[in-house]
Amino acid sequence: MKSIAIIYGSSTEHTKEAAEKIAELLADYSPTLADIYDGDDEPFKTHDVLILGVSTWGVQDLQDDWNDFYPKLEQIDLSGKTVALFGMGDASIYPSSFVDAIGILYEIVVKQGATVIGHVSPEGYDFEYSRALVDGQFVGLPLDDDYEPELTEERIVNWVEQLKPHLS
Ligand SMILES: Cc1cc2nc3c(=O)[nH]c(=O)nc-3n(C[C@H](O)[C@H](O)[C@H](O)COP(=O)(O)O)c2cc1C
Repeated sequence: MKSIAIIYGSSTEHTKEAAEKIAELLADYSPTLADIYDGDDEPFKTHDVLILGVSTWGVQDLQDDWNDFYPKLEQIDLSGKTVALFGMGDASIYPSSFVDAIGILYEIVVKQGATVIGHVSPEGYDFEYSRALVDGQFVGLPLDDDYEPELTEERIVNWVEQLKPHLS
């Protein structure tokens, strides 16, 4: 069984709650749960699978704590690591930058050598543009507690099932 770290950045706790739900669903794997606010790069080095959660705050903007951590991330070698991305956004008020931050993290982790799993079809999402959409697929799991919170749990449950074959 691979060792898993779930690392999130969250300003109003939506992404934090999603991270906790993911941790609960993966309890059999005893994942480490970490807030990127702490600025700790250790979990990136010591775990095989990194499940990274980030919300979007402005066009092409990472959540603040991820923004602060970004220079450290640029120094971490992620080759051999498996990364899965999820994040909160709001497709109603920000349809032209929906979950952009997932796309920003995707670009840097790929640059640092990681293999990204957990792509999601855009079917069922109502938005105009997202930096997280690559070759017709979201490169992680978009969640929207502002516009369609009733879908969050089901989306997380389905996504975690999609990840499981990569975790043993
Ligand atoms: C000032 C502001 C800017 C935002 N910009 C975006 C955006 O560009 N794209 C997006 O998808 N969501 C945007 N959002 C929505 C947040 O990502 C959303 O509220 C999310 O649930 C916050 O998650 P968190 O509590 O984990 O930080 C914005 C929200 C605020 C208040």
